Amino acid sequence: MEQMIQTRSNADKSDDSGSYSLEDLDLEGPSLPGEVIVKKSVENLIDLLAAEIVVQATLCVRRFGTFHLALSGGSTPLPLYERLMYDPNCRSLPWAHTHLWIVDERCVPFDDERSNFQMINETIVIHSGIPPEQVHPIAAMSQNAEVEYEALLRELLAQREAGEDRLDFVLLGMGSDGHTASLFPSHEAINERVKIVRAIEADNVDPPQRITMTLPLINSAREIAILVTGEAKAPMIERIASGHESMDELPIKGVIPTNGSLKWYLDAGACGYAQ
Ligand code: 6PG
Repeated sequence: MEQMIQTRSNADKSDDSGSYSLEDLDLEGPSLPGEVIVKKSVENLIDLLAAEIVVQATLCVRRFGTFHLALSGGSTPLPLYERLMYDPNCRSLPWAHTHLWIVDERCVPFDDERSNFQMINETIVIHSGIPPEQVHPIAAMSQNAEVEYEALLRELLAQREAGEDRLDFVLLGMGSDGHTASLFPSHEAINERVKIVRAIEADNVDPPQRITMTLPLINSAREIAILVTGEAKAPMIERIASGHESMDELPIKGVIPTNGSLKWYLDAGACGYAQ
């Protein structure tokens, strides 16, 4: 894939104060909705995103007394979740005042390796000291999982003043097919406008049964961060940037904050840089 982006011109400035490494440059990113943050290494990208979560949590707790954080599963966010636990710079994250929500869950028991909550529990919950009553896994095996989760979200968010009754920070990933949460290409749940949580059955994914937040809930959030790393995702990032396909084809294009901010956190591999 030809390189889609150029490093800033400083890189070719002759500079006798020593050479820049690509690591030090802010990389120009692809044309995506919202703000695009690109770092050469996942390490540096995670530094920034972890710091942003700490800042947002601190501001929300100072203003509202609580921080409503929704996290995605998958493999990409694992280093971020570990960083939030072991990095001294993240020690001030106010877990005692944080509510931890799950963006989507597979309909499997919590001890199944495919469970998103299992991964989040093992990397964050058991180490963070977050009060158990503020940890909100999706009971995806329950008959009315989506109704129960929606009711809990509405009950707890309603404790906020009007206009602030929303998630404060939603971390999303992106599949190579352009899905996010468990909103898969061509699935009618993409267009759900009333329910904020849906049970879905998807083709060609394991397991097919999922419980997922819907776009009205995700897009109402104060801050939305989409974390995408690795060369395997570069073709999809380019398709999104080229702008020709609809959100039915690429569900992540339906992530459009109604009154908040959207930031893409991409490493160089996801942007098509030669590694
Ligand atoms: C899930 C996630 C899903 C994930 C993407 C990317 O349940 O799998 O919520 O939306 O973010 O599938 O997954 P990877 O990070 O593993 O590529």
